Amino acid sequence: MRKALVAGNWKMNGSLEANRALLSALMEAIPGHDAVDVAVCPPALYLPSVIAQLQDHAIEVGGQDCSDEKSGAFTGEIAADMLREIGCRYAIVGHSERRAREQEDSLWVARKFVAAQAAGLVPILCVGELLEDREAGRTESVVAEQLDAVLDLAGVEALSSGVVAYEPVWAIGTGLTASPEQAAEVHAFIRNRVAARSTSVAASLRILYGGSVKADNAAGLFALPDIDGGLIGGASLDADAFTAIVNAAVGVQSQESA
Ligand code: PGA
Repeated sequence: MRKALVAGNWKMNGSLEANRALLSALMEAIPGHDAVDVAVCPPALYLPSVIAQLQDHAIEVGGQDCSDEKSGAFTGEIAADMLREIGCRYAIVGHSERRAREQEDSLWVARKFVAAQAAGLVPILCVGELLEDREAGRTESVVAEQLDAVLDLAGVEALSSGVVAYEPVWAIGTGLTASPEQAAEVHAFIRNRVAARSTSVAASLRILYGGSVKADNAAGLFALPDIDGGLIGGASLDADAFTAIVNAAVGVQSQESA
């Protein structure tokens, strides 16, 4: 059985004080789980203090992005080795907000995936279509292009220690969630696409859903066969909501293993 992952993407939110309060609430409410991995991804500046506070706690930490380069003249960028050195386990790559604002294309994102993995991080590769893509019937071709860039550059085996997050762009921060049918369809598409290259990698690949996951819709989404947890934006800033989402994943995992 695949171990679920629930990761909070704090985006550009927080402050030293707010982070401390949020983390102490989470540390109390979320014990270590055998069935579910939990992570938070704060803004890069806060990584050291978040990692220090979470020391000896099962909640792990990730960066929201990393450079595709190892070191050198890349002003403002953060290398995957640096994230690893200070204690990150994960790095999100290819979030739609970066694909849109920073014009990161799929090859660039694939290079970040490779860099993260080479540094010993678990990359969380975000893929997902715009509303106009969905309406034009292009969901699968958009997701395929984003996924294939990584499969082609890194090789399918690389995904055996990576994570994919399907995040329909129209569902991010909008309060719109993909219906269970819509999410299930794309998750199955992703798994089948990986299976075409390796059935064993596809079977073990964790595919998260992201896009307006909340306490009240998490259990329904996580119960779908190809959904292995979530990448949570807005709701990860609220200790009660994030805890409820983690508990939803734990509940689904224990039902499945029963
Ligand atoms: P949201 O964001 O949960 O606020 O929709 C998800 C994400 O962007 O990862």
